[in-house]
Amino acid sequence: MLHKRTHEEIIAQKEDDPVYGGRGLAHQAPKYNMPTEEMKPRDAYQLVHDELMLDGNSRLNLATFVTTWIEPEAQQLMSETFDKNMIDKDEYPQTAEIEKRCVNIISDLFHAQTNDEKEACGCSTIGSSEAAMLCGMAMQWNWRNKRRAEGKDISKPNMVVSSDVQVCWEKFFVYWDIEMKVVPMSKEDNFLFQPHKAVELCDENTIGVLGILGTTYTGEYQNIKLLDALMEEYNQKTGYDIPIHVDAASGGFIAPFIEPELEWDFRLKWVKSINVSGHKFGLVAPGVGWALWKDWSLLPEELIFHVNYLGGDMPTFALNFSRPGSQVIAQYYNFIRLGSEGYRKVHQACLDVSVFLQNELEKTGLFETIISDIRMPLLAFGLKGEHSFSVYQISDKLRYHGWQVPAYTLAQNCEDVSILRIVVKEGFDYDLASLLLKHLLEAVQLLEKEQEIPLPSKSSTKVC
Ligand SMILES: Cc1ncc(COP(=O)(O)O)c(C=O)c1O
Repeated sequence: MLHKRTHEEIIAQKEDDPVYGGRGLAHQAPKYNMPTEEMKPRDAYQLVHDELMLDGNSRLNLATFVTTWIEPEAQQLMSETFDKNMIDKDEYPQTAEIEKRCVNIISDLFHAQTNDEKEACGCSTIGSSEAAMLCGMAMQWNWRNKRRAEGKDISKPNMVVSSDVQVCWEKFFVYWDIEMKVVPMSKEDNFLFQPHKAVELCDENTIGVLGILGTTYTGEYQNIKLLDALMEEYNQKTGYDIPIHVDAASGGFIAPFIEPELEWDFRLKWVKSINVSGHKFGLVAPGVGWALWKDWSLLPEELIFHVNYLGGDMPTFALNFSRPGSQVIAQYYNFIRLGSEGYRKVHQACLDVSVFLQNELEKTGLFETIISDIRMPLLAFGLKGEHSFSVYQISDKLRYHGWQVPAYTLAQNCEDVSILRIVVKEGFDYDLASLLLKHLLEAVQLLEKEQEIPLPSKSSTKVC
């Protein structure tokens, strides 16, 4: 008969007991209440480590825009600095200095005209969402201050966006009680943003218009240059000063290297602020984002708080307080490690893989890409013609192999169009892309076969 260990035997664990034969793993991990007793670090590590095996493999996560592979040296720097709190600028002056350098580098990349005496205007954040909120708030304050000075009503601010905005903007509108004026996506416009439709929605209460460089839904680079020209005309005519904010969460770290001549940034008159994610195509592990303003006059002084309880005068403009410094340090590592040529090579390689995937998918005759002109390493594609299965079923089948390829509907007004999306990131090479293709085509074959097998007839199923 099998011997069942007694409680005393389990308690009497020895230092050199095997991990899976010792006390720590002789019961389930506590889940909803804190245990009273301690556990050996080795056992606690093993329990948590083992449970995390059930998570997906991040390298097969083609849904996310966020970096899933970083160089070992960046990893080392990050693990050496996770204990540095970004907010303690007096305690960690070099981390603060590195943040400043990053702001200056990005600002320069986006063509802000700063003079030598004044540093570029911007800050690091936990991601683009926080950066978008900070830039949105600055727009609201500037609009409010101007209206107040003119003795006008400030109760009904609005902002103009296309319907394929990322959810962070919808949050911004709800959290800050700002009306969201939407330019709907449309099939007639080939799902592309029409700047004149955005300008038509503007009025005296508009705090800003949003342009997106690399939309979440399709990867479109919206025509920000045209938007700027139309806003110039509109602002001249009305006497308003409605700024453009560019959500460059993804494209902000691609366009400057791949299409340096593309004008979407501070080179344009009405582009006053930009958000970009360091943890997307800035190639840093999550979470870091950046908020940038064209110049300091655009960041209202009332939004900057000064604290002295960490030693020295600490100006802070952020939604949260404490945040690890390691991502900012890794961002600087990337800047000096890669330089613009390194970034160009990484992104070009990802674009090449995206185009390879696009060609292979279109060759099958089964799929079509939503926006054929790929400018970001992102492939948004749907089924061509009528099929007995859906993109959701394909996405599901791909999961059997560990691939995470999301299926979703397009934005407001185009919700009847369902697509799949693949974001090609550093580390997703031709080899992995070919395997994905193989699995995708196998999934289609399997689904076709499954449709041929008749399902049990409804009449034989008794519903009670
Ligand atoms: C266009 C756009 N804006 C904002 C965000 C939010 O970025 P983050 O995840 O860095 O907060 C995303 C995320 O995918 C995005 O695609």
